[in-house]
Amino acid sequence: MKRILTGITPSGYPHLGNYIGAIKPSLELLEEKSESFLFIADLHALIKVSDKETLKELTNGIAMAWLASGLDPEKTHFYRQSDIPEIPEITWILSCIAEKGLLNRAHAYKAAVDLNNEGKKETDEGISMGLYSYPLLMAADILTPNATHVPVGKDQQQHLEITRDIADKFNRKYGEVFNLPEAVIQDDKTVLGIDGRKMSKSYNNIIPLLSTEKELKKAVMKIVTNSQEPGEPKDWRDNTLFSIYSSFAGDDQIQDLKSKYEDGIGWGDAKNIVFEELNKLLMPIRERYEDLKTQEDYVEDVLQENAKKVRESTKATLESVKSHVGLKTN
Ligand code: TRP
Repeated sequence: MKRILTGITPSGYPHLGNYIGAIKPSLELLEEKSESFLFIADLHALIKVSDKETLKELTNGIAMAWLASGLDPEKTHFYRQSDIPEIPEITWILSCIAEKGLLNRAHAYKAAVDLNNEGKKETDEGISMGLYSYPLLMAADILTPNATHVPVGKDQQQHLEITRDIADKFNRKYGEVFNLPEAVIQDDKTVLGIDGRKMSKSYNNIIPLLSTEKELKKAVMKIVTNSQEPGEPKDWRDNTLFSIYSSFAGDDQIQDLKSKYEDGIGWGDAKNIVFEELNKLLMPIRERYEDLKTQEDYVEDVLQENAKKVRESTKATLESVKSHVGLKTN
């Protein structure tokens, strides 16, 4: 049976770009007749998030965002990485097999080294072992529950190659334990932020996913435009407001706004249209989110129950790994 698995690192507050680019397409994938695993990669986040309250808040925010967006925790294994102790245990065993040279080539590590070199610093200055070993932890995330298919963005493709490489090496050395997972590369659905650059927490240009109607409106009204007056025909190409609208609106609506641009709609009116439609899209998510906030223990209960289910298979994998390498089993 197909086992689809993917992880989300809680390193920022969920925004419209996350919803369009990751949450929505993943939820659609999960509708298929297959087992699915979706987890919050809080151990990965620890590499970037150093404040304990922030880490808790971001982890909870991601859980809320997925549940509010319609994830059904009865149908998907929805769990928190740090609740599955078999993952870091297997990470260690994998680290005894993976060659350092393989990890030297990982993009994220190389980028950090390049930055140091540019700044005339020591090659590895400020680079934690966590960042360096990131691909190993990710390999363990995937291999421990024996995933077969891993939907990820293009930027994560190398991590899947590393995962397969290590799994294959383990299997040859000790015998077949791991399935070699396939990457399912998802289309890059980049959503622009309110300043016209890619929507990203690091640019401070996000449209929040879990916000009040008022906050949503405020964000939309801040989308950059130019100084063209109402009545002047406007170019929808290379236009941030139009681009954001196109990332979530239907074809007919997009065509309609296109002709309004050509007819010279004012920026204020155009923003109102974008806000109204966006608000329609986010309203049910907001309602579920408000509802979740009132059920204090619900999210934690969901995560605990799911962790219990997931551990049935991760414990079995760990036992098998241990027995193959010669460690004592239970
Ligand atoms: N590295 C992924 C990202 O930043 C998140 C992640 C962690 C992940 N473990 C994973 C994705 C396992 C897929 C499978 O997007």
